[in-house]
Amino acid sequence: MTHTTCVLIAVVFLFHNSSASAFATKQFQEWYPEYGFMFKRILEENCTEQYQYYLSGQKNMTRLDLYDQWDGSSKTSALAQPVASCILRNTSDWIKSGMASAAVLLGVTPAILAILGPSIEETSSLFIFGSRPFLVMCLALGSPSINPIRAMEYRKPLEILKPRDDGLKLPNWPDWVHHIIVLIEYLLVAAAIVNIATLIHDLGL
Ligand SMILES: *[C@@H]1O[C@H](CO)[C@@H](O)[C@H](O)[C@H]1NC(C)=O
Ligand SMILES: *[C@@H]1O[C@H](CO)[C@@H](O)[C@H](O)[C@H]1NC(C)=O
Repeated sequence: MTHTTCVLIAVVFLFHNSSASAFATKQFQEWYPEYGFMFKRILEENCTEQYQYYLSGQKNMTRLDLYDQWDGSSKTSALAQPVASCILRNTSDWIKSGMASAAVLLGVTPAILAILGPSIEETSSLFIFGSRPFLVMCLALGSPSINPIRAMEYRKPLEILKPRDDGLKLPNWPDWVHHIIVLIEYLLVAAAIVNIATLIHDLGL
């Protein structure tokens, strides 16, 4: 459900792109599997006329003025809007309400991710005091967003760096253990970067 919503939301928000990029007609071809088979059937059986108009890549201003503008179409969305409207018209309310609930969850996900992520203060401490600039740059590349709340917070870095008795005491590990830890760190950060790159590719940004 979540994935389908993503696609539908992407389609709805990409109207403008579709017309800006010389009327590209590459949308409505791939769907996430959960509801994709339904949208495909709707496209083939109920929205043939609208889809053909979209594929033609030629905006028909007469059509826009006479019909589509009353459906919410505008010059920039003249081609994609009739198809999307038609798909929504032919989708059952049950599925639409499912997608709407998924959209709520998707809406709060970026905020949750941002709060879970490292703060600027944490990464900059690692950069300067931890002397791990390359790791920090990789972490920045692999982070979907920065933490907006904690950016306004001020914690005294000198307080944090003071030696404490209750701190975690690491045993004196041999060198090879340190190498393995560094390797694991870089594997995790590489996975984070690949994740972001895949997302960017999938969303077509
Ligand atoms: C969509 O097309 C199918 C098959 O042609 C038809 O049975 C169905 O009634 C159509 N749906 C609507 C809402 O017109
Ligand atoms: C444009 O749309 C109008 C109204 O739907 C239609 O009569 C006309 O044939 C269309 N023109 C083209 C070039 O498809």
